[in-house]
Amino acid sequence: MKKRVQNGRERDLRNADLEIRRLEPEDAPALVRCVRRCYGGTYLHRDFYDPEAIRSLLQRGLLHSGIALDETGEVVAHLGMLLERVGDRTADMVLGIVDPQYRGQQLILRTGAVVAPEFERLGLIGVYQYATTAHEVSQKLTLATRSVETGMLLGFLPEATTSMQTSSAPPSWRLPAIMLYLPLATAPARTAHVPQRYREVVSDIHARVGLERRLVDGCADLPRRPARLRSMLDTPRARVRIAVAAVGAGLVPEVARRLRDPATRSMQIAQLDLPLSDPGTPAAVEALRELGFFFGGVLPEFCEGDVLRLQSVPSQQVDSTAIALVSQVGKRLLDFVLADREQLELRDCELSDPAGPSCHHQDAR
Ligand SMILES: CC(C)(COP(=O)(O)OP(=O)(O)OC[C@H]1O[C@@H](n2cnc3c(N)ncnc32)[C@H](O)[C@@H]1OP(=O)(O)O)[C@@H](O)C(=O)NCCC(=O)NCCS
Repeated sequence: MKKRVQNGRERDLRNADLEIRRLEPEDAPALVRCVRRCYGGTYLHRDFYDPEAIRSLLQRGLLHSGIALDETGEVVAHLGMLLERVGDRTADMVLGIVDPQYRGQQLILRTGAVVAPEFERLGLIGVYQYATTAHEVSQKLTLATRSVETGMLLGFLPEATTSMQTSSAPPSWRLPAIMLYLPLATAPARTAHVPQRYREVVSDIHARVGLERRLVDGCADLPRRPARLRSMLDTPRARVRIAVAAVGAGLVPEVARRLRDPATRSMQIAQLDLPLSDPGTPAAVEALRELGFFFGGVLPEFCEGDVLRLQSVPSQQVDSTAIALVSQVGKRLLDFVLADREQLELRDCELSDPAGPSCHHQDAR
């Protein structure tokens, strides 16, 4: 049992008196100290190392958090919900942490209970979570809610990331994260343009989430209109995310151009979001395979409908034998993602060497 010496007496931290409440701007420095105790300097959302940035997120109504404080006012647990824009109907759950000295007493659930009423107040229909595969704990906790696995992002967590959950050093390769969605209210029924190659996996995700979707074929070719997209660099994660607002004729050369951009070239992984409401999405999926994009997952109701997330991750950065996955669904998603990538690699190999299979693929699994 964890003990702390206080005023010359040992104090039992398991039964410590803790205050559990919403995060307020004045708690920001104590939250930063808690992040440092839990993650050292490796937490990827850098705003959580900057009290001023935390205060700004709170003041703009973007961050809604529950915290636990010890008797000295130190933050010892946090669970937050982060909106991209005020008025959004979906949000990301962020920074689920418990000080190593206070783990194992369901503090994360207790701080989460403070955030839950905010879901209804803000009119959210769902929240996204990205659970690490470094250990099983956060997947187990998330799946104990009504959260559903919707994707597998390879290489999402850089080598140096440490959760300090285990005493072992962080792995020397980039770990995947499992994408989960917690439905909070009934989403509107919608039409989804899903490419044939992903019909089964996407229908399964829709069914598990409980989404009413009519799957229809899209157009055979990319629409003639110009493509609209924006790219966002996530430097701590060495990731570029390209969000496509409208699929159009010049999509593939434009994505290729952005990936060649000097600032983007240093990124190790790429993710590309396509709206399933766009009839051009099935043709875009096929065309983007030329650039090495394969299946990542589905973000239900991400922006006026579901988003299909593709990813491009070099094979040498995955060792799936060392990934912790607690559910059969998670394991099936990983198998699907790896098989989709392998298909791409085999095709590239055949194209580059039509005479025979002389090239050797590193086993992605
Ligand atoms: C994941 C985390 C938030 C869980 O918080 P918590 O309030 O301790 O959770 P619980 O009390 O419900 O315990 C969950 C599991 O943690 C493990 N656990 C229990 N005591 C522990 C301890 N002292 N140290 C480490 N893990 C412990 C157990 O496996 C427990 O499962 P069990 O109850 O079935 O035995 C916390 O361990 C943490 O901050 N980890 C590092 C950061 C991290 O990985 N966050 C999630 C990122 S996706």
